[in-house]
Amino acid sequence: MSEAIRIASAAAIPPGSGMVAEAKGMRIAVFNVGGRFHAIEDTCSHQGGPLSEGTLDGQVVTCPWHGARFDVTTGAVLSLPARRGVATYPVRVSGPDLLVDIPAVGAGSLGAGDGQMKLVLAAKRVETQDVTSFLFRSEVPLSWQAGQFLRYRLPHSEPDDRRTTRYFTIASAPFEGHTMLTTRFAAERSSTFKRALRELPIGARVEVDKPAGDFTLSHPDLPHVLVAGGIGITPFRAMLLDLDHRRLPVNATLLYANRTPDFVYQREIDALRRRHPGLVMHYFVSPQGITRGSIASVVPDLEAAIFLVSGPEPFVEGLEGMLSEMGVPETRLKRDYFPGYDWA
Ligand SMILES: Cc1cc2nc3c(=O)[nH]c(=O)nc-3n(C[C@H](O)[C@H](O)[C@H](O)COP(=O)(O)OP(=O)(O)OC[C@H]3O[C@@H](n4cnc5c(N)ncnc54)[C@H](O)[C@@H]3O)c2cc1C
Ligand code: FES
Repeated sequence: MSEAIRIASAAAIPPGSGMVAEAKGMRIAVFNVGGRFHAIEDTCSHQGGPLSEGTLDGQVVTCPWHGARFDVTTGAVLSLPARRGVATYPVRVSGPDLLVDIPAVGAGSLGAGDGQMKLVLAAKRVETQDVTSFLFRSEVPLSWQAGQFLRYRLPHSEPDDRRTTRYFTIASAPFEGHTMLTTRFAAERSSTFKRALRELPIGARVEVDKPAGDFTLSHPDLPHVLVAGGIGITPFRAMLLDLDHRRLPVNATLLYANRTPDFVYQREIDALRRRHPGLVMHYFVSPQGITRGSIASVVPDLEAAIFLVSGPEPFVEGLEGMLSEMGVPETRLKRDYFPGYDWA
């Protein structure tokens, strides 16, 4: 069973372009390839990047987050780091309108449980001079894996060119009972989204999509090297607290680089280190950075380790180049890019 839903005017999507449409709580990317329309799931199967914001070349769209490529006519994945394709939806032109056939709830690959929900702001916590955490409780039961993220929508007046949605890691572990968003506020020229977030009153509701992403610890028993650049520490807080709560052994080396000695969550992480002899910590303060030499000296067995790298996009790109030159294969490297920040 499916239902035809109008998602856009056909004229709104010129050949060679795409846009996102929301229907029945699902995000659908619609592309115009040489006058023919194609609709696929907007959420990249790698870590949830918005495919509608990717680059379209012929019938191939490149995910804006980490560059996986998909055939928009079939949903098939064409290149790593995504490993599976995305759903496709029949789309047709009816007069001036584009109609997409959406599977009835329970009948399709994006069935029940997808879509948006509301979080209520319960508390704010200042972490460092320019970093604050926002603690939300969910109006419906919410489950997630440590390391996943949420997409937030925060409508506000006169949004800038970065608009009204953002992705943030759930910095809390599931057992904590709330979701936590931790973010840095720019000293100058904060985006309108961040200004609206900073001013959000306790009790305010924000809309989020369901948790997504595979930046998680799939084999916690194996040795891990967790590399954080600045605010990129957020998923590692969730993962380490989760392991601690589940009484699982922590077998990880955390390399944490920051511009200043004001490390976010330092007290919590140091407390975890005292409880877990298998957690080894190395802090790096600019201008000292993480180099090939520092990695080689603290990770004796590069062959065995799984690397997780998280932080501003230029930081992660620098690390992935370095690790690849050191012989770490793609299969043992996961990254979480935070767009919108620079790193020097
Ligand atoms: C999966 C995922 C997880 C993420 N997790 C987190 C997280 O846990 N914590 C977190 O903080 N971020 C996270 N991010 C990044 C987050 O979504 C934002 O992109 C980031 O916080 C920057 O926010 P902002 O665009 O509001 O810019 P701001 O934080 O306000 O500013 C950042 C920089 O951009 C400049 N700037 C601001 N507005 C503009 C503009 N309109 N044009 C040009 N430059 C501008 C500022 O001057 C500043 O230098 C995550 C992203 C992804 C994809
Ligand atoms: S390639 Fe799409 S989210 Fe990573």
